[in-house]
Amino acid sequence: MIRFESVSFRYRADAPLALDDVCVTLEAGEVVAVVGANGSGKSTLARLCDGLLEPTSGRVLVDGIDTAAPESLWDVRSMVGMVFQDPDDQIVGTVVEEDCAFGPENIGVPSAEIRVRVDSSLAAVGLQGLERREPHLLSEGQKQRLAVAGALAMRPRYLVFDEPTAMLDPAGRRAVLEITERLARAEGHGVLVVSHDITGIARADRVIGLDSGRVVFDGGPDGLLGDAGMMALLGLALSPAARLAAALRERGLDVPLSAADAESLVASLWR
Ligand SMILES: Nc1ncnc2c1ncn2[C@@H]1O[C@H](COP(=O)(O)OP(=O)(O)O)[C@@H](O)[C@H]1O
Ligand SMILES: [Mg+2]
Repeated sequence: MIRFESVSFRYRADAPLALDDVCVTLEAGEVVAVVGANGSGKSTLARLCDGLLEPTSGRVLVDGIDTAAPESLWDVRSMVGMVFQDPDDQIVGTVVEEDCAFGPENIGVPSAEIRVRVDSSLAAVGLQGLERREPHLLSEGQKQRLAVAGALAMRPRYLVFDEPTAMLDPAGRRAVLEITERLARAEGHGVLVVSHDITGIARADRVIGLDSGRVVFDGGPDGLLGDAGMMALLGLALSPAARLAAALRERGLDVPLSAADAESLVASLWR
């Protein structure tokens, strides 16, 4: 489990708190969405998960290991995989398989084992067959999936995604969403996803909402999607499909809150 114990964080001594007394958890096998307006502290929370940032006060524990203990940095980094918003910032290899092998090579994984990990990670994100492709020739969605494969090749127990679908089209979004869900549900990874994507939020096990560095919501997606005031506080707008679903619910139709995009709305009406 990743556990935040009363974590506060400021970037400089004279800066306001970017996170203020945050207590949250992420368990293995769980998909947790992190939401909040711009500047609410989402990326700061993500970067605290693997010791990239250290709490100003409080503790972050990864399976009981304190991320701030200097001797545990490599343990923590190998347990927590990070994927950031812009895939171009994360590409280091000249071909796809080399890029994917970079992390494990860095921590001294034997080359036969690296081969196995690279092949299975690329297959997990649907990039098999593109091993020798130059990364800059990939689509944005493929680049983001390559970044996911690179994180997977580290065999982390937890995966933290900071707005991984922000630059993707709907099809790319769906692909990355499906991969993250499979990783949690079939492979037992704990997955934390910073995202504004209503479909992703609706399908998460739990949602953490941040406002000015404080946790103002921590619960199931239904409780959030049905609460217009909380949605507004967290800077979330309902999609046209979700607005239509809400209007249909008001008229007495049995449309679940998880029907937040056109596809699931149609599916829920077509029963
Ligand atoms: N590198 C940094 N140096 C100083 N302040 C920062 C830095 N990164 C973020 N902040 C500030 O910390 C707060 C939280 O930012 P951030 O975690 O990036 O929010 P979000 O990801 O929700 O947009 C904001 O007030 C932001 O201006
Ligand atoms: Mg951010």
